[in-house]
Amino acid sequence: MAQTDTASRGNWNSKLGFILAAAGSAVGLGNIWGFPTQVASNGGAAFLFIYLICAFAIGFPVMVAEITIGRRTGKNPVGAFNALSGNKFLYSLIGMWGVLCGVMILAFYTVIAGWTVSYVFEELFHFIGMNGWATYVADTNNGIINAIFAAIFMSATVSIIVGGVSDGIERATKFMMPLLLVILLVLIGYVLWQPGSGVGIEAYLFPDFSKVDASLIFSAMGQAFFSLSLGMGALITYGSYLSKKENIPEAAAYVTLMDTFIAFLAGLLILPAMYMAQAQGVAIFDKAGHLLAGTALIFKVLPQLFHQLGGVLGLIFGVAFFLLLSIAALTSTISLLEVPVSYAIDEYNFPRKRSAQLIGLGILIISLFISFNISLIGVFVTIFNNVGLPLGGFLICTFLGYYWKTENAIAEMESGYPSVKQTIFSKVWPFFVKVICPLAILYNLLNALGAISYLQNLFG
Ligand code: TRP
Repeated sequence: MAQTDTASRGNWNSKLGFILAAAGSAVGLGNIWGFPTQVASNGGAAFLFIYLICAFAIGFPVMVAEITIGRRTGKNPVGAFNALSGNKFLYSLIGMWGVLCGVMILAFYTVIAGWTVSYVFEELFHFIGMNGWATYVADTNNGIINAIFAAIFMSATVSIIVGGVSDGIERATKFMMPLLLVILLVLIGYVLWQPGSGVGIEAYLFPDFSKVDASLIFSAMGQAFFSLSLGMGALITYGSYLSKKENIPEAAAYVTLMDTFIAFLAGLLILPAMYMAQAQGVAIFDKAGHLLAGTALIFKVLPQLFHQLGGVLGLIFGVAFFLLLSIAALTSTISLLEVPVSYAIDEYNFPRKRSAQLIGLGILIISLFISFNISLIGVFVTIFNNVGLPLGGFLICTFLGYYWKTENAIAEMESGYPSVKQTIFSKVWPFFVKVICPLAILYNLLNALGAISYLQNLFG
């Protein structure tokens, strides 16, 4: 099969570089904001428990599948499905669907990422007593402010992608990921000593299994796909820069573990911080008695906590928290932009710099539209994230399992992992890719679309 000259497209310099870049893609707003928020509104540890099953039983096998397809073909998602199917248009649609989902996710993600930066300024303005300015930049309903910060964030993303795979993405993530971990640990260390935080730990780690139902399982699966950056070919793309010397299942295991660990840590920060805020007199429940979640949690409850703490302490805590979110978001947006950029480079021979700038600008235009119509975020999340990513994962698994065949994938894994055929992994993984993952995803998707209850009513 034709393999692209990987040297001209770029390559990871080291195994650690790949793992940090892939973990950087995975660790994002989904971990530090999405995960704790979902835990808070879905029965604490009950959600955590279901989430772990989704991440390891569905996410991990799909991740191995994506990286293997990427490394085998050395291509972007569209090129990869073309290469493996002998240019059958039908199969390249899987890659195109992925690129479309990535573009749309990046469009709304950039607006939210912009907020995390505007709140760094909010904290600074608040500290120096410029309260008018603080309120002004903190208004997430202000289209102009949203647009400005989205544009800043997109520029940062483009500037890293322009640098290329090893000098841009790898270098940036090698610096940002350790920084992210340090900030997170310091914040947790502080919060856990504060009054009220113990109740938060309880809310986080004591399961309420009565909350487990089909919709919770669907949310947990969607969250796992989003958090692990699966279903749209980001890891096909990152895998295409991976050396034949590396062990794919091992690398995927590291990435899954790191992502899950950081989501878990973020829960240890956010839930205790909420109860700490409550101890300071901040309201953390809505009228219906549910814990506040989503934007209300991140951009109302927590800033109120930082302001209550006041002084230099409040400033440091607030700035560090929003910086943490910004860094996590940036290592994720670069993976989202790299997908369409690698598509333009591979398929249209476009130079990297021009591709990154033009595609970044094109996506920013969608972001600007969203900036002025914030309610669109929910629509985008439903279509491209909750449905689009699992659907992509389903197509990737069935393509690999029944068209390309798992034996060929295992053969690709042999480079970098020569003994793979003698392991249980090589017996279990094909079964997951062919049966468990597609069925679990399909069941969940049909459930979410209401098809299952429709059939039950029909036959019940
Ligand atoms: N995983 C990131 C997060 O948790 C978001 C993300 C980055 C993503 N790249 C992706 C989601 C590719 C889906 C597909 O915030």
